[in-house]
Amino acid sequence: MKRKRQVLAINGSPRRRGNTEALLDAMAKGLAAAGALCEIVRVSDLDIHPCIGCGGCEKGGECVLEDDMTDLYPKIIEADRIVLASPIYFYGITAQAKGFVDRCQALWSRRRLLEREGRWRDDPERRGYLVAVAATHGAKVFDGARLTARYAFEAMGAAYGDELLVRGIDRRGEMLQDAARLAEAEAFGRRLAG
Ligand SMILES: Cc1cc2nc3c(=O)[nH]c(=O)nc-3n(C[C@H](O)[C@H](O)[C@H](O)COP(=O)(O)O)c2cc1C
Repeated sequence: MKRKRQVLAINGSPRRRGNTEALLDAMAKGLAAAGALCEIVRVSDLDIHPCIGCGGCEKGGECVLEDDMTDLYPKIIEADRIVLASPIYFYGITAQAKGFVDRCQALWSRRRLLEREGRWRDDPERRGYLVAVAATHGAKVFDGARLTARYAFEAMGAAYGDELLVRGIDRRGEMLQDAARLAEAEAFGRRLAG
């Protein structure tokens, strides 16, 4: 029997019942309908210290800091799909999401060490997805988030899969009033499971 897809979604919004949360909930509905397992993690509920650039991870591929990232690393490594979700803050992802991404430097170091030892295997089935929401309609509003996500997924050893980008949504709860885009998020979830 085929193993169920395991999806780890990182919600970088500090706002409860916010627009990113609404998009992820709709996506999770699609994932569940397609038979995938999904865990949504709110980074602002966790204790994630910013990377201190100590280089400790270059020795053994593991971060020297001990906080809630310690339990997240194996989940990132085991997931088939990693979703990085964030509202746009000043043309990038939130500080909370970036704090999480910076700590993925340890996964980058781990990858480099495994590559050097000839033990790294690219897994084309492992993919990263960006979900982002912005208040404005600017053509370049997602450029910063996209670049950060692309290189974060590379560190995680996940190819850039797809993105769900929503413009023109600002107030808390506004996303819940947009049935068409929630349906899009649900369809995105179903696709992700494939
Ligand atoms: C500090 C801050 C910075 C923001 N910067 C931008 C921005 O650069 N461009 C934009 O379109 N929206 C910006 N926004 C609006 C949010 O992206 C928008 O309100 C989003 O819907 C919030 O999603 P959430 O409810 O999931 O937190 C900003 C909001 C905050 C609080």
